[in-house]
Amino acid sequence: MKILVIGSGAREHALCWRLHQSQSVWGLFCAPGNPGIAQIANTVPIAMSDASALIDFAKKNAIDLTVVGPDDPLAAGIVDQFQDAGLKIFGPTRAAAQLEASKWFAKEVMRSAGVPTAESAIFTEVEAARKYVREHGVPIVVKADGLALGKGVTVCADIAIADAAIVDALERKRFGESGARIVIEKFLAGEEVTLFALCDGTDAVPFGLFQDHKRIHDGDVGPNTGGMGAYSPLPQFATDVEARAMREIIVPTVAAMKARGTPFKGLLYAGLMVDGTDIKVVEFNARFGDPECEPLMMRFDGDLAQTLLAAVEGQVMNANVALSPRSAVTVILASDGYPGEYRKGVPIFGLEKVEGDTPSELKVKWAMKKIRVKVFHAGTALKDGKIVTAGGRVLAVTASAPVLPAAVEAAYEAAALIDFEGKQMRTDIARRALVRSPETI
Ligand code: AMP
Ligand code: GLY
Repeated sequence: MKILVIGSGAREHALCWRLHQSQSVWGLFCAPGNPGIAQIANTVPIAMSDASALIDFAKKNAIDLTVVGPDDPLAAGIVDQFQDAGLKIFGPTRAAAQLEASKWFAKEVMRSAGVPTAESAIFTEVEAARKYVREHGVPIVVKADGLALGKGVTVCADIAIADAAIVDALERKRFGESGARIVIEKFLAGEEVTLFALCDGTDAVPFGLFQDHKRIHDGDVGPNTGGMGAYSPLPQFATDVEARAMREIIVPTVAAMKARGTPFKGLLYAGLMVDGTDIKVVEFNARFGDPECEPLMMRFDGDLAQTLLAAVEGQVMNANVALSPRSAVTVILASDGYPGEYRKGVPIFGLEKVEGDTPSELKVKWAMKKIRVKVFHAGTALKDGKIVTAGGRVLAVTASAPVLPAAVEAAYEAAALIDFEGKQMRTDIARRALVRSPETI
């Protein structure tokens, strides 16, 4: 197969890395890609938003399957356009991608399907929203209805913060049209996990359980980011969490989407809050999560192109979604200032120490312990032949090992070898699992 991947981050690098190793793939393209992706795929300088140029490219190059990474092109209807042009593409249609692009749409689907989620209401007027907050009390969560680059959610510890979030979205238009409607919902206590389900419009199969680390600083403090690290599997949870979430959440959601005439094909990302035996939906995304996709690609060693094609062709029940029992951990190296303003163009040093051919004691140690280390590029660029920073999240340093502690140790050993001015990372990725379940790992 000839495959085209759309996107330019670490998620797309991880997808390309696995596709590159798929037996059925003999041509791999990525638009627009990044310098890491360029080492294994042909990068194509077409913007992700330029659907007609992408369709042209796919036709001219006889692409067998296109795989969409990010949410924006999905919400804009890239899948519908490819399908109209007679091309195969992995991802939901514009109507189905509303599960991510409109929080209220997701709430309505969940309500109709009986899927557990926080009680909520939608508002366009400041006064009505303020009244709801006072009736329900704090903590409470205020969310822009539409896509807001992960910044549209405010968890409000007191009424003043809630009022400010309401005014910010509805009056100051901080999120533009995305925040013209806000959803206000009950605060859910518990531990967050991410479940991936591969869906073909009718059926769904689980494709990994992960824990992301959304806050910028250790101990889950500071502002929300796109995700500062992730790992899988999660030894601290009962083995039935995944099966229950499939049964209570994914299966009814996929059935409700089909019944509405907007069947969901692609990767359904369920952000879940687990509190004892209680599992509730925090959010749906209509795509692979980033960084969750990076540990997934380390644990999945099947032919990814065949697996994704099975979903496109309505054959998900026959797809290979088996994951290795190994543990995988991703630590994100981010630019100084992220998730706020940050510099770009800062030189990155030490990548060759992790991935080059030069032998080192660490590499010998990793080999002896059956550890695999891979650095996925998130926001990098080439400047005068050198790799420099080009985004808030810069690199996704990923390791897999037979047991979680070894994977964590190796990811941090590799992260320490790489340096750039202003590098910031969390030092506690996967700590919850390490602390809570030493007997099981
Ligand atoms: P979302 O974009 O909906 O995933 O929200 C971003 C983050 O805000 C989530 O990952 C949670 O950490 C937090 N969050 C969202 N909704 C709730 C809620 N109802 N209760 C507690 N935390 C929430
Ligand atoms: N890791 C969170 C996301 O992809 O939305």
